[in-house]
Amino acid sequence: MVEKNARRIGVLTGGGDCPGLNAVIRAVVKTAINQYGIEVTGINDGFLGLIEDRMVSLGNDDVSNILTLGGTILGTSNRANPFSYAVKEGEAWVRHDVSAKVIEHYKKRGLDGLICIGGDGTLSVARDFLQRGLQIIGVPKTIDNDLSETDVTFGFDTAVANATDAIDKIHTTAQSHHRVMVVETMGRYAGWLALYAGLAGGGDVILIPEIPYDLKNVARDIRERVRRGKRFSIVVVAEGAKPVGGDMVVKKVVEGSFEPVRLGGVGIKLADEIEELTGIETRAIVLGHIQRGGSPTAFDRILATRFGNEAVHLMAKGENGMMVSIKGDILASVPIENAVGKLKLVPLNSPLLASARSLGISFGD
Ligand code: F6P
Repeated sequence: MVEKNARRIGVLTGGGDCPGLNAVIRAVVKTAINQYGIEVTGINDGFLGLIEDRMVSLGNDDVSNILTLGGTILGTSNRANPFSYAVKEGEAWVRHDVSAKVIEHYKKRGLDGLICIGGDGTLSVARDFLQRGLQIIGVPKTIDNDLSETDVTFGFDTAVANATDAIDKIHTTAQSHHRVMVVETMGRYAGWLALYAGLAGGGDVILIPEIPYDLKNVARDIRERVRRGKRFSIVVVAEGAKPVGGDMVVKKVVEGSFEPVRLGGVGIKLADEIEELTGIETRAIVLGHIQRGGSPTAFDRILATRFGNEAVHLMAKGENGMMVSIKGDILASVPIENAVGKLKLVPLNSPLLASARSLGISFGD
């Protein structure tokens, strides 16, 4: 149990940046100070700040005017797993366990608890520190919406809005030039982002990792549109989409990262294949980090604020090892242990898939 009378808590943001992180930080600081009189220490660059003892005190003024800001004022890192910290020694990456440093700095700074805002990687590290006696509350974050035990994470709505806006704009060229435009979204191993943006942006073909596609079916459905007088098509493809019997396209492997594999490139590959099979001029657009940039939507600002409030309430109540979550519109909390290590994928019986299929959207199957 967290000491009921926690006087000082730390807050960190780990993993990829995500719209709404600053809204969580703001809510944590304001709730802690104003409601409970708890002091807040901001940790720079995720767990790296705990390894290197880089932290700052956060007061109300420090979090003023950050609600609308994308990114994180604390900085983040997705390469700082203290239990397996990769350091380049000569040509080789060597891993060290520097978790003792984290515990040393946590104690030195007089922290009674830690709020970890992050995705699967950050929360897995947080879980491992629970066993070392740190008191932790997790806040789920990912634009991919693939974290288990919560219906939704902040950042997803903004990423969907950004991707949808891009698809809207891409329609212009698709229509004018009678082209196929392949739009590659992020989302890692889950198809949520492509599915939502594809639906919202009026995609004609949506390819997601959960439904391996057959290229012949994709070409067939594009030709069928041409036959019906639709001389352009928009194909929205998740970076993790793969053909039946084939593999995802890996862009690079980032040594020392929580999740070393970086996907990317399926859109370009697919565009070449579609052009070859259909004879229709085809272009690929990779949306990349634009999707997680910029100001969070109103939905994400509110969700992030509620998550930040709740994390502090849980701390103040003496909870430990729990992650804030939302089910429907009701805030809840679940053991961090239950949320990590298993992805929340698009279920094949999702009503969204049924809705899309009713419109004639192709999934290439
Ligand atoms: O998890 C968020 C995410 O944006 C994924 O959608 C994407 O695959 C990955 O991070 C990209 O990571 P990075 O910014 O490290 O290249």
